Amino acid sequence: KQLIIINGPNLNLLGKREPEVYGNQTFEDYLNTLKSKYNNFNIDYFQSNIEGELIDKIQEVGFTYDGIILNAAAYTHTSVGIGDAIKAITTPIVEVHISNTFSREDFRHQSYISPNAKGVILGFGLKSYDLAIQSFI
Ligand code: DQA
Repeated sequence: KQLIIINGPNLNLLGKREPEVYGNQTFEDYLNTLKSKYNNFNIDYFQSNIEGELIDKIQEVGFTYDGIILNAAAYTHTSVGIGDAIKAITTPIVEVHISNTFSREDFRHQSYISPNAKGVILGFGLKSYDLAIQSFI
């Protein structure tokens, strides 16, 4: 199966960014672990800090890939555009967050992704991505 992990803004800083919330491992490092654990999946990776680039990528893969694992980061809580892109495509999306957004500030309780996601996994640290891949087995 062909999957892609799409990470939104500031997730390129994983490992150095607020380690008490997001841990101290880089995503590239963790991705290597995931790729070898799930070597029967083809797992692409894309990260951008730019909303339109995330939308372009969702459109590009969203009619052919078997699954999208999306952590839209801060855009989760603000982006009507990403929400609409998910509505437009046919590939199922699993929404992922590293932290438990419901135990944090009120503005993180709103998601433009969830209403059109196949499912949501949050709060398990980087392991949330692992659990999301398992949902495609
Ligand atoms: C996040 C949660 C968001 O609220 C935040 O803006 C992020 C990361 C998470 O993975 O926990 O950047 O999506």
